[in-house]
Amino acid sequence: MASFLSVSSSSSPYHNHPLLRGKLTATLTNNPTTTTTSPPTTLPIRKIPSDLSLPLLGPLRDRFAYFYTQGRGEYLRSRINRHRSTVLRLNVPPGPPIARDPAVIALLDAVSFPVLFDADLIEKKNLFTGTFMPSLHLTGGYRTLSYIDTTEPEHAPLKKLLFFLLSHRRTHVVPEFRSTFGNLFDSLESDVASAGTADFSEGNDQAAFNFLIRSLFGKDPAESELGTDGPNIVKKWVLFQLGPILTLGLPSLLEDLTLHSIRLPSFLIKKDYDRLVKFFLDSSAGSILDEAYRLGLSKEEAVHNILFSTCFNAYGGMTILFPNVLKWVGRAGSRVQAELAEEIRAAVKAEGGEVTMKAMESMPLMKSVIYECLRIEPPVSLQYGRARKDFIVNSHEAAFEIRAGELLFGYQPFATKDPRVFDRAEEFVADRFVGEEKEKLLSHVLWSNGPENVSPTVGDKQCAGKDFVVLVARMLLVELFLRYDSFDVEVGASALGSSVKLTSLKPASF
Ligand code: HEM
Repeated sequence: MASFLSVSSSSSPYHNHPLLRGKLTATLTNNPTTTTTSPPTTLPIRKIPSDLSLPLLGPLRDRFAYFYTQGRGEYLRSRINRHRSTVLRLNVPPGPPIARDPAVIALLDAVSFPVLFDADLIEKKNLFTGTFMPSLHLTGGYRTLSYIDTTEPEHAPLKKLLFFLLSHRRTHVVPEFRSTFGNLFDSLESDVASAGTADFSEGNDQAAFNFLIRSLFGKDPAESELGTDGPNIVKKWVLFQLGPILTLGLPSLLEDLTLHSIRLPSFLIKKDYDRLVKFFLDSSAGSILDEAYRLGLSKEEAVHNILFSTCFNAYGGMTILFPNVLKWVGRAGSRVQAELAEEIRAAVKAEGGEVTMKAMESMPLMKSVIYECLRIEPPVSLQYGRARKDFIVNSHEAAFEIRAGELLFGYQPFATKDPRVFDRAEEFVADRFVGEEKEKLLSHVLWSNGPENVSPTVGDKQCAGKDFVVLVARMLLVELFLRYDSFDVEVGASALGSSVKLTSLKPASF
């Protein structure tokens, strides 16, 4: 993929990940000579502790604890404490009747978690959403790329197609972002002036969708039959897929007996999904579908995948990440905000007032802040993988035998906030990654399903949009601080991430 950013240009394979050099590693047990990572472990082998109990009642009780009585973080933390281990067997939602087997081996530290990125050891077939898979009726009958393992023949051509999608109009990305998000900030500014508050999350939903369609497809949704309906349709469609693992804030028992126990029937969303398909079929005609044809993909498979990646992966990700960025930078306070404003304006001025890639490369604090947002609150926090063969996985303290076929589950925030890797791991430290030495810690920033200093390839399951995501997140801060000296936020919860309102926007004074 043509890289958007020079910072993540390293093409070294995952085996170079510092965690996998030396003692921190996964090692094959059945054939030590084919070890893909590092020398055999010297840590004591420990039986994987188990938190599993009664077959049916256990998973239902655990699901209730995970969503309501404890919450996800506490559910996992309390089990680590109970069994004194960051690698252990436990149940994850939704469990029966939607998922027959909710038992997984949880990897809950910075050492064990990254084994999930090793495509030699880990299969990721139909595991994107975990122990259950949404109906294929929701994706036109196709298993989209996120569900396809690296060994399946469709993986490489589909990933190449998405690399093409993200790069073929790259000169449009910065100008479309500035114009769409510039309009968003204009309207948020007038809301704050008139009402004292403005809903960033709501405005971001529409802006993110319009930006993606304008920059990647050169179309304006408002001028199509879709009008302004895109974001709402996508949100409903995502709910049909992720309902079993979401909370919407309904009364807990009611929500658990419905959303987490019954699949929403896909026919209810079919008409809306068909509107999206028609829109993406029209919008992809020409160079994108020509590329799909060159790659040997059918028009149908290409369109359902382009739709999925644009609406689920890209749009879904931006609607979680952008409010997070405002939340953390808002909370970081006026000193950090003033430093960002100074740095960003000086770098843009040095480029003759233009927001260029070069200007953005000369903003070390801004870059660090985005990485820190991605570290402290990874937008997609759960990852799954199935052992292709027997191997050993290490935690900080012990080594554990994993058997072929076993399902592994990683909770990413416990890896990226591991206090044995990061100082003040629970704190937002704006300049955590500023400077050559501190940049090395980027190998422990894992939001993209891989280390931040490694680029996605057709041979792995790292996010195809990695560089694009970092670029747009950087542009959000650049746009914000070219316009404003500082801002304040009010943060609430939403089904996927945070809901953020702006309560002040102080216009740029220098
Ligand atoms: C904030 C935005 C985003 C986040 C947080 C994000 C996160 C992720 C994560 C965690 C995975 C791995 C999931 C798993 O297998 O367990 C993934 C995979 C993937 N992402 Fe992203 N993503 C984002 C944006 C994008 C964008 C913009 C695109 C491209 C249009 C994209 C396309 C994909 C694809 C195609 C895969 C599967 C890769 C493969 O099968 O090899 N994502 N993403």
